[in-house]
Amino acid sequence: MKNSLRTFLALVGLLASSALAQNCGLADNEKVDCGYVGIDQFGCESKGCCWVPVFKDGEKERQGGTPWCFYPATQCDDINAYNWVAASPGFDATWEAQMKSLYALNLDYCGGSVVAAPDDVVNYIYHWMRDGALSIKVWMDINDGVLSAVQDKLDPYVTWVTQEQQKPDPNVDVRVEPKFEICSGDPYSGGWCRPQTDGPALRAMALSQYGMIHLDQGDPGYADRIWDLVQFDMDWVLNYWYTSGCDLWEEVTSDNFYWNRAGYVYSLHVAADFSDRLGKGFGTTYRNLADTILPTAEAHYNGAYIFVADIRREDGSVLHAIATFGDQVIHATDYRTAQTITDYIKTFCREYPINQQDLSAGLEGILIGRYPGDTYQGGNPWQLLTAALAEVFYIAAEQNFIDASINDITLTMSSDYDWLTLMQLSDGSRLSELAAAQLSAGNAVMSRLFAYVKNDGYHIDEQIDKYNGLQKSARDLTWSYANILHALHVGRRAGNKHQEFLAKKEQEK
Ligand code: NOJ
Ligand code: NOJ
Repeated sequence: MKNSLRTFLALVGLLASSALAQNCGLADNEKVDCGYVGIDQFGCESKGCCWVPVFKDGEKERQGGTPWCFYPATQCDDINAYNWVAASPGFDATWEAQMKSLYALNLDYCGGSVVAAPDDVVNYIYHWMRDGALSIKVWMDINDGVLSAVQDKLDPYVTWVTQEQQKPDPNVDVRVEPKFEICSGDPYSGGWCRPQTDGPALRAMALSQYGMIHLDQGDPGYADRIWDLVQFDMDWVLNYWYTSGCDLWEEVTSDNFYWNRAGYVYSLHVAADFSDRLGKGFGTTYRNLADTILPTAEAHYNGAYIFVADIRREDGSVLHAIATFGDQVIHATDYRTAQTITDYIKTFCREYPINQQDLSAGLEGILIGRYPGDTYQGGNPWQLLTAALAEVFYIAAEQNFIDASINDITLTMSSDYDWLTLMQLSDGSRLSELAAAQLSAGNAVMSRLFAYVKNDGYHIDEQIDKYNGLQKSARDLTWSYANILHALHVGRRAGNKHQEFLAKKEQEK
């Protein structure tokens, strides 16, 4: 008895001293696993990690959610350590124009295909359905939906999809085939993570957008032909949206990815609008399904952040989904978005040494990657995901400036805790001050990104080395250009809303 009590006290002492030395005072949801199943206190602390057993309901068992052995708190966990102050995104007009030209080269690469990257070293000379649809959508957005500006890239894409949709596929329904040969348009027939179920909705969304551009400025008969492609892809969504497939990173299978669910909801709304405009009668069907899927997407909020799937927690695709699909799902301005950003920046700061270095140096912004534990090409920050975070800030800023122009309400810690805390604002700040902080934060993230590409002559690749900051993996990744240019586009809109807000205030004086 006495002996075991002494051992117990000694252990408590050890625990306390290690806890003191390295700050183990983290909230349960901030603990990142540093151990492995079966690790004990000695094994854990020898790794320099914190050991805090968590018992639930009197049980003496490891509880699934909270790791007992976890990384000590670092500067990454201090939300006030981040620097969100930047007056511009770093990228200037020349950069924007040059990146746009390099991007354009990858569209209608051959027979209407969108090449993932013109880089055969990493084997990216294929048309990925997801990359293609997202990049085509962005091309319309950054050209303000002007038919004459997009037609030369979009008409060939429509031709490409018309052929692709009808090709026999030995592996899977061709609508959920992830990638296609350039130039033949044949589905890739080698081994790959299949099916990838985000594709058809994204493609139908991009095509619907183009169809509506034609209804406004072009040929209604052509829009009608596009409708057939949309309907065929959306039939897949109507029938199989709940089935499982590979994640967008082509690695793990699940039937509950936030990215996919949010993408379905958003795309169904766009396709419904297109159907209404053409009088096709599918609007109600598509919106009803969107309403059915929406709660399954919202269920990804766990009280602390939005997680991507049962099998994986933090994932940069969630930030991308907020930026791209948030109009119809969880919006950029939402408190759940603030919480998600708060959690994710800490996670990706801990994950990448380069983020820690930059944080210590006081550099603005942060770099974001796919998910903690990623090993692809070493597991690094991704340009397209970093840009997506910047865009989330910009979208929130734009909306909040619009709202503040009508009523510049006072924000309080009791109702707006998450955004005020993340943006380091005090209780009683105005909505317009939050908007200005978000605009600045968008610029800060873009500036950080710019710092790591600025020597590469307008070229943007897939990843940024987490140790030395050099660009790596796929050269000239189309999706990287798309997201950076889209973020800059939305950032400019937010900046304009800021000016309008200031002008209105001046008038009222
Ligand atoms: C594994 C990577 O993680 C995945 O994202 C990629 O698409 C494939 N390899 C092919 O490059
Ligand atoms: C790997 C990425 O993980 C995947 O999302 C993408 O579709 C392909 N590369 C092509 O860019």
